[in-house]
Amino acid sequence: METFFFVAKKIIQCCFIAYFTVFFYLSLKKCFLKDKSKVKLFVLSLITGPFLSYIEACCLSSCIVRVINPEMFFNINNKRASAEKYIFVLCLIIAVAFLLINLLYAWLLGKWLETGTKSSVVYLYLMFNTLAIMLQTPTGTGMMFSVPYLRDIVDIAGNLSLLLAAWLFYRHDIRMFSKIARTDIKVDWRLFNIPPAVFILLYTFYVAELGIAVDPEGVYPVGDDLVLAIYIFSTIIMYLFIWAFYVIIKNLSATNEAIKAKDEVKTLSVEVMEALAHTIDAKDEYTRGHSVRVAKYSRMMAERLGLSPEECENVYYMALLHDIGKIGVPNEIINSKDKLTDEEYTVIKTHPGLGYDILAEIKSRPDLSIGARWHHERFDGKGYPDGKKGDEIPFYARIIAVADSYDAMTSNRSYRDYLPQEKVRSEIKNNMGTQFDPDVARCMLAIIDEDKEYELHE
Ligand SMILES: [Fe+2]
Repeated sequence: METFFFVAKKIIQCCFIAYFTVFFYLSLKKCFLKDKSKVKLFVLSLITGPFLSYIEACCLSSCIVRVINPEMFFNINNKRASAEKYIFVLCLIIAVAFLLINLLYAWLLGKWLETGTKSSVVYLYLMFNTLAIMLQTPTGTGMMFSVPYLRDIVDIAGNLSLLLAAWLFYRHDIRMFSKIARTDIKVDWRLFNIPPAVFILLYTFYVAELGIAVDPEGVYPVGDDLVLAIYIFSTIIMYLFIWAFYVIIKNLSATNEAIKAKDEVKTLSVEVMEALAHTIDAKDEYTRGHSVRVAKYSRMMAERLGLSPEECENVYYMALLHDIGKIGVPNEIINSKDKLTDEEYTVIKTHPGLGYDILAEIKSRPDLSIGARWHHERFDGKGYPDGKKGDEIPFYARIIAVADSYDAMTSNRSYRDYLPQEKVRSEIKNNMGTQFDPDVARCMLAIIDEDKEYELHE
């Protein structure tokens, strides 16, 4: 019967370790270990980790046993007493050395795998776990008679290390979670119950057989409420944290994929917007690169005016597409070398409205159309198409208006070269409060004053 329990215990322990090994390996491989060489390194760590822990645990338990049972080992009548002292010191040195090696190894592993605290914590967990298992071997427990709850304490320490791991994961990946909240990922919560369920099954077996097989002398009497409570409590805690860990791992990999997909979509839309901007500029042979420059200047001003990075990006794209309505204006009018007639000018003035209608179709970015519609409005209300004035004009459009005029003055035209910097500066200064929003204009003046070499022109 004893042999049966011993074999059963070993099998269950092997399942337990194998389950953890596979679980951690697969999770980490999926999330962090895209690099093949790192996978090998991680596998190596899974083999060497428990080995290092085993030596540490054996030496440590030898020391502990000698401390708690001094009369058994250091008895002066015992012929081996002096040898025992050496063994004790040696074991202590080895235990401490291996503890340090373990910690160093965990730290190095974190560095090599570039997963920082993550793998170190996983590794530390394995170390604690191995320690707990080693101390629960029949010999280990047999020597622990004087401190019957030591095993439970070690067990709880193992659980606490997992708690630490879960907490570190949460703390480290809290940003990832907020990204999940902003992306529409469908998470299948049902999946998350399978691995913890397997785990709890193994753990329950493992705990149940401990009470019978490891403790034939009845150190933990069957029915001892405290021991039972500790087992149940630690089992529940273990379950919760394994579950939490698994959820984190699953969410992390889902987030990685979602972020990648989002980045791809973003790159595509940026490229499409830039291609559109080039199409607009290509229509007008004298305004090559106008849209991109206006976008650049608008963003510079937005940054200076203290807008958030997201808003600055929005202003950039609005400005990039501000003249998109020119697509609907005939080429002859846009490229006319003569002074425009009143009719022609009326046609030109339709481009903000046209641009607004085109961009309003992009439902996911409704604000894109703002720049297109109101970039020809004037601060004094004499602009077009709506004759808005002051704060009625959206702030983004007031920024783009200044950038648009600045680029018009600093670009070559069929009839002139770009204007000297001083002239541009005084034009903007003179039109503060009439054509331009004074705050935005002041911001542009500051940019001009810093651009001593006059690099900001076509
Ligand atoms: Fe325009």
